[in-house]
Amino acid sequence: MKAAVFTQPNQPINIQEIEIEEPRSREVMVKVSHCGICHSDLSMLDLGGAGQLPVILGHEAAGTIEEVGRDVTSVSRGDKVMLTPLAFCGQCYWCSRAEPTACVEAQSFTSGLRPDGTSPFSNQGQCVHRGLGVAGFSEKTIVPESAVVKLDPDTPLDIACVIGCAVQTGVGSVFNSAKVEVGSTVLVTGLGGIGISIVQGARIAGAEKIIVSDPVAERREAALHFGATHTIDPLNDELLPKVMEKTANIGVDYAFEAAGVAALVDECINASRIGGSTIIVGVDATLATVPILPVMLATMGKKIIGSLLGDCHPQRDIPRFVNLWKSGKLDLDGMISHRITLDEINSGFENVRETRGIRTVVEVAST
Ligand SMILES: NC(=O)c1ccc[n+]([C@@H]2O[C@H](COP(=O)([O-])OP(=O)(O)OC[C@H]3O[C@@H](n4cnc5c(N)ncnc54)[C@H](O)[C@@H]3O)[C@@H](O)[C@H]2O)c1
Ligand SMILES: [Zn+2]
Ligand SMILES: [Zn+2]
Repeated sequence: MKAAVFTQPNQPINIQEIEIEEPRSREVMVKVSHCGICHSDLSMLDLGGAGQLPVILGHEAAGTIEEVGRDVTSVSRGDKVMLTPLAFCGQCYWCSRAEPTACVEAQSFTSGLRPDGTSPFSNQGQCVHRGLGVAGFSEKTIVPESAVVKLDPDTPLDIACVIGCAVQTGVGSVFNSAKVEVGSTVLVTGLGGIGISIVQGARIAGAEKIIVSDPVAERREAALHFGATHTIDPLNDELLPKVMEKTANIGVDYAFEAAGVAALVDECINASRIGGSTIIVGVDATLATVPILPVMLATMGKKIIGSLLGDCHPQRDIPRFVNLWKSGKLDLDGMISHRITLDEINSGFENVRETRGIRTVVEVAST
């Protein structure tokens, strides 16, 4: 079967014929229909594959069940499903505390391998990694049963796929990680698929002010459509005085960092009010650090919250997000600015690098 494989640092992704195993017990094989490109995929390219070459990237996918392994009960062949990057075991320390994104097995997404160190993909005997837990830029993939969520047969996969990462991460960070209340004030730095999803989540949660910052004018314009109430151009204005001006010198209740720029975490902490929260969603792949002043956090009661995949429980949250889309509250269609085929994958990554549009979706195989 055909897959887009990243084989060498600083080289384009290649379309290759590779081999895929049969699904094992409690695994499913999915025919991938569509998969969005997230900045985390681009970070994997920029990190030279993070020690996982060769690797199939793409973790924002939807498709159809092709085969099920032994003991799979929740889906069967032909079901439409959403894929999620963080499969969970249901039994570990974290799962028993209803924290599936922290599950000991979910953490294997960073290795591109199953928890036992194997991959379902190979090319002439060489292991090919399942990048970020999904490997959505492949005609077929194999994932644990807990990494798929059944969708109604009428769900359009070419639109719903962006729920897999952008919406779970962004809307989930608002609903689950921050628990934004009606009437809150919110700041969002970075307006890609993740930041725009945070804006939408904050609007749905009933935030009164949604202040956004991004150097890209088109993205600030788009954010107004999705629910932002005030925009800041960080190339022309300093963030802190602008946020203070718009919040009667109080600061925001919730500041979300969604650009993946470490220095912005410091700016978000400063822009959050006394007792307010900073939610770190962006991943600064350069591993840059920020100074933290414990005395300020302690005496002002400011909170810092790290958020992985929006702290979503996929079986609970994905149907919730689909229903918000069906009822017209969540605009997924408007987030998809570019559509390409698998053969055009490298141009899709250029869209992300150049911040063109909001989300580029790859048609992997039409269903
Ligand atoms: N925590 C998670 O679970 C999770 C999941 C998915 C993605 N991510 C991370 O979230 C981040 C955003 O992903 P995306 O796909 O939306 O990326 P993106 O590249 O589409 O968007 C990032 C945006 O940040 C903006 N930006 C850059 N510098 C800025 C600054 N100084 N001030 C304000 N905005 C600035 C860019 O112009 C761009 O519009 C990435 O770091 C990604 O790796 C985290
Ligand atoms: Zn992502
Ligand atoms: Zn677990």
